[in-house]
Amino acid sequence: MSSTPRGQRASLDKQPHEVAAMFDGVAARYDLTNTVLSFGQDRSWRRATRAALDLRPGERVLDVGAGTGVSTEELAHSGAYAVGVDLSLGMLYAGKRTRPAVPLLAGDALRLPFVDASFDAVTISFALRNVNDTDAALRELARVTKPGGRLVVCEFSTPVNPAFRTVYLSYLMRSLPAVARAVSSNPDAYVYLAESIRAWPDQAALAARIGAAGWGRVAWRNMSGGIVALHRATRA
Ligand SMILES: C[S@@+](CC[C@H](N)C(=O)[O-])C[C@H]1O[C@@H](n2cnc3c(N)ncnc32)[C@H](O)[C@@H]1O
Repeated sequence: MSSTPRGQRASLDKQPHEVAAMFDGVAARYDLTNTVLSFGQDRSWRRATRAALDLRPGERVLDVGAGTGVSTEELAHSGAYAVGVDLSLGMLYAGKRTRPAVPLLAGDALRLPFVDASFDAVTISFALRNVNDTDAALRELARVTKPGGRLVVCEFSTPVNPAFRTVYLSYLMRSLPAVARAVSSNPDAYVYLAESIRAWPDQAALAARIGAAGWGRVAWRNMSGGIVALHRATRA
């Protein structure tokens, strides 16, 4: 493991300091790399996350693992007050430069800097997979949500069609790291991305974990054939 930000890549045990350093290394070109690697689909995934949260003007929504604030900014289009929290100072600095109006705080998904029941809704986009204790993070999200409040998890998942799944896994393991070498400020991080997606629970398994962590009425919807899934739930 390199000790410099460039070339920094977390291992699958996802130690918080390694994860934060890896994201510090991708921060400079994070938004662009995302859009290139997802063929522009990231924008529609973010819009779908906002719609699934069903936010109303004046509500308070927390975006955990907000990174550069790209997901937080989308939520604010609803008229709700959206605040982002992230572990990586590099991502937060990049966000402050490009989106100075988006409120972003340094904090850990496992110890959120908010009192109980602070938010009408909480969400986490492409970040739950990077937290080293998924179940504890889901419980912590429930703690800061009002009873009856909503959760939406937007995360890479398992394509439903077996033939498409084979093609996608090959893109993930071979082509994606190669494309990342051309566009990212830390291409090694995209090897971790591919490995962490492959090791992540499928739709039904994640739904069961959400339900076991203090959330009710868990449901999901596939996007882009199941490359991404949106899990919704309500605070019990
Ligand atoms: C792939 S980025 C997602 C950023 C943004 N939500 C988006 O949709 O593009 C994942 C983010 O999760 C953050 N992260 C990982 N572990 C975290 C933790 N324990 N607490 C807070 N943020 C964390 C990383 O620093 C990184 O910025």
